[in-house]
Amino acid sequence: MLLKTTDQRKLTGWQKIANRKSKIANDFNVLFTCIGRRVSLLQSFRRAAAQLKMNAAFLGTDRAGLSSALQLCDRRFLVKPTTHRGYIGQLLSIVKANRVKLLVPTVDLDLKSLARNEPKFAAAGCRVLVSTQDVIDICQDKRKTYRFLVKNGFDAAITMSVRSVLSMSKINWPCFLKPWDGSAGRENAVATNRKELLFYARRIPNVICQEFVEGAEFTCDAYVDFGMKVRCVVPRRRIEVRAGETSKGQVTMNGRIMDEAAALVEKLGAGPGVITLQLFLTDDGKVKFIEINPRFGGGVPLSIKAGANFPKWILQELTGNKPNIRPDGFKDNLTMLRYDSEVWLEGS
Ligand SMILES: Nc1ncnc2c1ncn2[C@@H]1O[C@H](COP(=O)(O)OP(=O)(O)O)[C@@H](O)[C@H]1O
Ligand SMILES: [Mg+2]
Repeated sequence: MLLKTTDQRKLTGWQKIANRKSKIANDFNVLFTCIGRRVSLLQSFRRAAAQLKMNAAFLGTDRAGLSSALQLCDRRFLVKPTTHRGYIGQLLSIVKANRVKLLVPTVDLDLKSLARNEPKFAAAGCRVLVSTQDVIDICQDKRKTYRFLVKNGFDAAITMSVRSVLSMSKINWPCFLKPWDGSAGRENAVATNRKELLFYARRIPNVICQEFVEGAEFTCDAYVDFGMKVRCVVPRRRIEVRAGETSKGQVTMNGRIMDEAAALVEKLGAGPGVITLQLFLTDDGKVKFIEINPRFGGGVPLSIKAGANFPKWILQELTGNKPNIRPDGFKDNLTMLRYDSEVWLEGS
């Protein structure tokens, strides 16, 4: 049922054999949804399972077969778009047919529906690495994120509607414009005067206006265990960004950022799993949060390489073992420089 799309029919001989072979029972099957280009994350789960001597299979879903990470999964599934009403039903069928024990979302798109349907997955014996609907609601609307941050005493980039900004007698230029429901840095703009503000405001859907924050930008990976306790935070400085994702980054174990990020995640009640926070450390020493993504972020391979072996900890916890997490045991200053790599598909 799930395999009959055009792309799936294009699977080459060896891929079909791989799919068939991996039907042999595994002890612990993990399913990544919308796996896209998350090759590094997939491989770090594989390495973790090997370290733990687990007999695990790694499954993936995507909308299209031409996804690099999907090709590297033990079993591949083409599914409907995340907005389709049959999407969750498809995932549940895959989970049941393959006795999946853990489902890992990798993008924002299906978080809400996974959270809403989490009990159905639990009933099928599958843990979903997702926060509650309320938490996702706060994270996926940057206006609500701002309100949450301010209400709970965290510093944040001042966020207003364009109308409120325009009604002010004195505006602090420049302003940062973006959609309140945006992602991957799409539709972002900087306005330096009223004319530009009006120009962008007409073009950016669901636009909000933020103070333009200057300083060093950081992403933090926070690990929340299955008892919903924040166990560690790894801050990494964003040196260079490509298509909304860190392409050059450096671990920077800044105590203040770690404490504030941990307090934020704790207060929000996000988790279990990895929660990704974005913030600026301003020149006058303030920690200003701008975004919370309740899932694995694109730059997480850096924290994993630095010693925050999230995949191993998750697999350990789910198999009844206690991970040994030292909240400061990570390689400070470790730098990641990313490059493109290839997956080759042969045959028709
Ligand atoms: N208020 C701001 N001031 C300066 N830069 C910003 C501001 N908001 C966002 N940015 C920049 O734009 C990028 C994308 O913004 P973000 O809020 O993370 O939205 P998303 O990732 O959902 O598109 C950030 O990583 C940051 O570099
Ligand atoms: Mg972002």
